[in-house]
Amino acid sequence: MTMDAARDRLIVALDLPSVADARAMVAALGEDVSFYKIGMELTYAGGLPLAQELARAGKKVFLDLKLHDIPNTVARATAQVAEMGATFLTVHAYPQTMRAARGALGSSSLKILAVTVMTSYDDSDLAAAGYAYGVKELVARRARQAQEAQVHGLILSPEEAPDMRALLGPDMLLVTPGVRPAGAEIGDQKRVMTPARAIAGGADHLVVGRPVTQAPDPRAAAQAIVREIAQQMARGA
Ligand code: C5P
Repeated sequence: MTMDAARDRLIVALDLPSVADARAMVAALGEDVSFYKIGMELTYAGGLPLAQELARAGKKVFLDLKLHDIPNTVARATAQVAEMGATFLTVHAYPQTMRAARGALGSSSLKILAVTVMTSYDDSDLAAAGYAYGVKELVARRARQAQEAQVHGLILSPEEAPDMRALLGPDMLLVTPGVRPAGAEIGDQKRVMTPARAIAGGADHLVVGRPVTQAPDPRAAAQAIVREIAQQMARGA
């Protein structure tokens, strides 16, 4: 039971160039991974039928499509995704967009996650894009707006999780990429945290890509992360 709960908190990012590669990775990971993220790269390479296939096979699927458009289009796109059996869908954290997505779920169990500010943006990028706020202020402002729009969760860096947990309370799902087991390659991530620390900091789900998919033994890498999550949960996170 504990291992199932720990496994549910690991989301493996299928950032792979083709559906065949992704399918092979899912087969290699077997029962050790129950939750997958499909992003734009794989989606545009034919990944949506794979998402439906995984959902039908009992896996959970996070479609990281980062929707943002006029409310009518966001609502209609969200309604389509809700039919696919996905568990999570991302939208950008603009109030209109979040309300439109949230309002289009009908009776489906799809959950909406909002992306507050892309982690590639710093204060000067926001100023150049015409925003009056720096990153910290804009993340907090959008997090509150996400709560008002009743979206189910937020994507954020593990460093932001403790403050957001304090600001938003226990019900908002916090999903964090930028997770690296001790000793793993950091790659292009700038601010990383171990799985145990991310969980201790209030994250509900961890998105992990390359430390699993590029590992010499992906299944063993996933098992080690799930064990680390389980140990942290046993300590009380
Ligand atoms: O390979 P790695 O573990 O760095 O993959 C992290 C995943 O999380 C990728 O799919 C990446 O696009 C996504 N992501 C991220 N940082 C964000 C938002 C999403 O790394 N701020």
